Amino acid sequence: MNNPTSSILQVERLSKTYMLGRATIPVLRDVSLAVNTGEIISIIGASGSGKSTLLHIMGALDQPSGGMVRFQGRDLYALSAAQRTVVRGRHIGFVFQFYHLLPELDVLDNVMLPALSSAGNGAPAVMRARAQSLLESVGLADRANHLPMELSGGEQQRAALARALMNQPDLILADEPTGNLDSVTGGQVLDFLFALTRGEGRTLILVTHNIAVARLCDRVLELKDGRLQGA
Ligand SMILES: Nc1ncnc2c1ncn2[C@@H]1O[C@H](COP(=O)(O)OP(=O)(O)O)[C@@H](O)[C@H]1O
Ligand SMILES: [Mg+2]
Repeated sequence: MNNPTSSILQVERLSKTYMLGRATIPVLRDVSLAVNTGEIISIIGASGSGKSTLLHIMGALDQPSGGMVRFQGRDLYALSAAQRTVVRGRHIGFVFQFYHLLPELDVLDNVMLPALSSAGNGAPAVMRARAQSLLESVGLADRANHLPMELSGGEQQRAALARALMNQPDLILADEPTGNLDSVTGGQVLDFLFALTRGEGRTLILVTHNIAVARLCDRVLELKDGRLQGA
């Protein structure tokens, strides 16, 4: 059923072209997609097919060349850059392949970072308690005061999951979150990611080039030649 009121994200006729000198490189062509609230979808595609580009544009991190992205009813690229940053900080959580934890901050401070950079999320003690509780939910309660380099890859990615959840995002965008992990460790990270998504009725878009990972999602789409198709 396609109930427009339950749609959290609508992408319409999106295009993205990079300029390299005088050459234009089309990466996304006429991409349209609607994602329902609570859905877990996967986007697969070969390396260089534009998965990260699409994810960044859907997450208000990059500008499209044409088309529209509507998130929770807002036309993202009709907003000012400052408004877009607020929407992103309050409603969207990101997970990246290489974790992107700040090396000089301990795990707890890394998890708290999104709350510090988006105003109005509550008192420091409340944020600290929330970060600690998120670390517990990814099995890292006892690692709160460790530096990222003291953690394994899987543990760092679980810390990054906790960070992505810090502002209670409605939408989680994960870009090859298991791409740097062995299959057992990657499976653990996915279990946490799915549990944290489903438990709170969040929406997840998971980019991967691993079809076995993609098939764990409710719906699989494939980017090919700049176009998105059912897979
Ligand atoms: N800033 C950029 N400038 C020029 N080309 C880019 C830029 N970012 C990505 N590309 C090109 O766009 C294509 C898609 O990249 P990307 O979205 O990272 O693909 P994927 O995540 O599927 O591997 C690639 O050919 C890449 O080289
Ligand atoms: Mg990529």
